[in-house]
Amino acid sequence: MSTATAAAAPAPLLAVEGLAKSYGGVEAVRGVSFALVRGEILALIGPNGAGKSTCFNMLNGQIAPDGGRVRLEGRDIAGLPPRAIWRRGVGRTFQVAATFGSMTVRENVQAALLSHAGRRLTLAGVAFRQELGAADGLLAMVGLAAQADRPCAELAYGDLKRLELGVALTNAPSLLLMDEPTAGMAPGERVDLMRLVAGIARRRGIGVLFTEHDMDVVFEHADRVLVLDRGALIAEGSPKAVRADARVRAIYLGEGLLYRAAAAPASAPQAPSGVAP
Ligand SMILES: Nc1ncnc2c1ncn2[C@@H]1O[C@H](COP(=O)(O)OP(=O)(O)O)[C@@H](O)[C@H]1O
Ligand SMILES: [Mg+2]
Repeated sequence: MSTATAAAAPAPLLAVEGLAKSYGGVEAVRGVSFALVRGEILALIGPNGAGKSTCFNMLNGQIAPDGGRVRLEGRDIAGLPPRAIWRRGVGRTFQVAATFGSMTVRENVQAALLSHAGRRLTLAGVAFRQELGAADGLLAMVGLAAQADRPCAELAYGDLKRLELGVALTNAPSLLLMDEPTAGMAPGERVDLMRLVAGIARRRGIGVLFTEHDMDVVFEHADRVLVLDRGALIAEGSPKAVRADARVRAIYLGEGLLYRAAAAPASAPQAPSGVAP
């Protein structure tokens, strides 16, 4: 009873402390710390080369960190191989090339389900039938039920992205990592995909960490935003607070990435006085 306050604070789903990685003389990620709780949608933004992908790849096991800790529900997973991290319930969206074009949409999801179950594809017969229901459930969840029997090679780009999401959900993840999930999509499709992700994540209590270039998508869907610049976190907070942050604005204006909502000036910008155009 005397420990009521300690018991009231749930351990974060993901706790990252002092994560660091250098390439030669380049400090790609410098002491990054943050936490994420179940059901939370956290955006990691920053200009090109800020270290976003390096962070993701350290969280999913593709790159071993030079330093720092990554705890998933209290257990340190830093430096574990990708397979071990995936087995602990960390899903990630794969690149398009990771889907097998000649397989149907359903078969792709079945293969991922079987892989998670640790069974070999060559033992397929019985196992395939067992996973059929689960595969169709996932396809319905990501809006691909009607495309289940089509070869992946025939899918439109936006549908491939949904298939990636379906595949990422096959290990029933508690944490979903999505590095530029909407790359190459039209703005309307981006919003649709992130709306789908957000709905699934909130219903299932999945924590989501994602990167995204379209600031309107970030500000509409993220519960919280982390801003990375040259390997270090420079801002963290609600979309509203981050949008108003002077350092963040300076970086994004410098990159020429204006927020669409704020991109229509009421009057022409003035040249700084005393500076020749
Ligand atoms: N494999 C690598 N070898 C050398 N430098 C790398 C490698 N991967 C990333 N970098 C460097 O690390 C920095 C961060 O890159 P990255 O994590 O890809 O940034 P972002 O995803 O934010 O664009 C950049 O300066 C990049 O050039
Ligand atoms: Mg990147």
